[in-house]
Amino acid sequence: MNRILVTGATGNLGASVVDFLLNKTNSTLISALVRDPQNAKALELKAKGVETRTGDYNDFTSLVNAFKGIDKLYFVSGSDIQNRYKQHENVVKAAKEAGVKQVVYTSFSRKNETETSPIAMVADSHIRTENLLKASGLNYTILKHGIYMDMLPLFLGDQVVKSGVAYFPAGDGKVSFTLRNDMAEAAAVILTTEGHANKIYDMTNTQTVSFSEIAAAISNASGTAVTYVSPAPEEYIQTLSSAGVPMEYVGMFAGFAEAFKQGEFDQVSDFMESLIGRKPTSVSQFLSQVYTRN
Ligand SMILES: NC(=O)c1ccc[n+]([C@@H]2O[C@H](COP(=O)([O-])OP(=O)(O)OC[C@H]3O[C@@H](n4cnc5c(N)ncnc54)[C@H](OP(=O)(O)O)[C@@H]3O)[C@@H](O)[C@H]2O)c1
Repeated sequence: MNRILVTGATGNLGASVVDFLLNKTNSTLISALVRDPQNAKALELKAKGVETRTGDYNDFTSLVNAFKGIDKLYFVSGSDIQNRYKQHENVVKAAKEAGVKQVVYTSFSRKNETETSPIAMVADSHIRTENLLKASGLNYTILKHGIYMDMLPLFLGDQVVKSGVAYFPAGDGKVSFTLRNDMAEAAAVILTTEGHANKIYDMTNTQTVSFSEIAAAISNASGTAVTYVSPAPEEYIQTLSSAGVPMEYVGMFAGFAEAFKQGEFDQVSDFMESLIGRKPTSVSQFLSQVYTRN
């Protein structure tokens, strides 16, 4: 019987992986890495019978202690982009030192691996972490996650239905948006079955959509006509910053929009479907839930 530890278990993805694991294996075989064991999310995990272990990606020793006796580690990429690679180095080295048998890492789907990528800042630490894992001697499974479908409402802003405009500079780019919970469900299958050592998997949807199609789906769901407008990147940046959106977000959104326009996420795979035994959630299914007319 394998003992599985899920990192990021107090966050959206990790918590969802834990929930899917609970349907597949005994709670006594699941551990969760938490930064603060008294945090409400950590207490929720404990209430489900999941053991919590305290550790921080910035604290190597805490990770070595937390990873002792773990067979499979589900390693959720960190959210602190500036310091992420150093944190990931700590996780990989601690896994090695603690004798973890397999590391399943949540990486990122991409095409352009050079610094010309509009999202090089995000991609760089994923690429370096993948290389580190491959060189570590650990058994690894790299999950190349599609862009989260769950991010769409954030990209479009909360006025999209009210204003009747989906304003985002992604042009005609097609994107393989993938639901975070579907990736969690697929990960639970990987963690509870064998044959995934030293594999790299494309965890993307089976279809791509453009932002024109997204606007049409929001129109259908909301009952209000929504038109897609793709401004020039400079205009987009100016509009968002004048509206008081912090520059950090403006730059990130503009970078992702440009990546979408360049087809960076225009790739499909039926691998997730084979794992979860059904088609992954489509963008129109997701949007019909988010923007349902009242
Ligand atoms: N593919 C995509 O489109 C996409 C989009 C967004 C994010 N991501 C990536 O996917 C990851 C998971 O997404 P999510 O929605 O689940 O994010 P989330 O809800 O923000 O969860 C992040 C988790 O990581 C934990 N964490 C952060 N810093 C840590 C540290 N220094 N040491 C230990 N744990 C730490 C957090 O713990 P606390 O609860 O203690 O804060 C939380 O459990 C993100 O971190 C990011 O790398 C991908």
